[in-house]
Amino acid sequence: MTLLDGKSLSTHIQATIQSQVTTLPRAPKLVVILVGDDAPSVAYVTMKAKACKNAGIDGGVLNLPESTQESELLAHIRELNADTNVDGILVQLPLPKHIDTAKVLESITPEKDVDGFHPLNVGRIQTNTQVDSSFAPATPLGVMRLLEHYHIDPKGKNVAIIGASNIVGKPLAALMHNACATISLCHIYTQDISLYTKNADIVCVGVGKPNLLRAEMVQDGVVVVDIGINRLESGELVGDVDFDNVAKKASFITPVPGGVGPMTIASLLENTLKAYRLRSLSQ
Ligand code: GUN
Repeated sequence: MTLLDGKSLSTHIQATIQSQVTTLPRAPKLVVILVGDDAPSVAYVTMKAKACKNAGIDGGVLNLPESTQESELLAHIRELNADTNVDGILVQLPLPKHIDTAKVLESITPEKDVDGFHPLNVGRIQTNTQVDSSFAPATPLGVMRLLEHYHIDPKGKNVAIIGASNIVGKPLAALMHNACATISLCHIYTQDISLYTKNADIVCVGVGKPNLLRAEMVQDGVVVVDIGINRLESGELVGDVDFDNVAKKASFITPVPGGVGPMTIASLLENTLKAYRLRSLSQ
């Protein structure tokens, strides 16, 4: 069994980005918008801002109160869309319930949508067209990068994805499909997940349930990508995979922490640099 070490690959990618940024006439700029003070969101946003700083990217956080009205948030985004010094805009999710998330995500200009959540970017990834000038979401992109680094080619493979969110499962299914894999996208109404995981060469899990994927659900030699992140009452961080037992059957497996999480950050920085480059080419 080989560990898919996202931490060291992410460190390498971030160092490469940093050296590329030093050659640019100005630092790429990412603005992360955080509405409210949801604890995991605060932690993610802090990590993103710190990673930007380390890579020489200007990563500001716009902190808005929980009570922010949708119209105020849209006004901030309009301003950032028009600001020629801003390359990337990221609205941390989830948003408070009184705000229409889809409307907010659609208001971000696609050229600055480094999260790849705007329907134009979603559509281009789905149709596998103009991907060089589009953005795919950071977590699925990080998964693909990690597999590529370990020479795991999804072409012709059976891939089971558990969790069909717009942030992870659905875009990951699109990227895997574009890489010529056959996809089973399992969701909350899937009656028997093991029907799909037992037949899979690659299993990706991201639902937020510790021990969801157990050893009896996978075949020998499986590649396991754990996208889950859960804090146990003991304070320990774990993924969605029963790591110790599944690892005995796996050929490759991601640790949590140190697997997909750091790759998400690296991919976000890559998308920000890509946004900078595409925007400077078009100016
Ligand atoms: N919330 C959880 N994951 C993400 C992500 O990748 N991007 C944004 N914007 N919010 C998130």
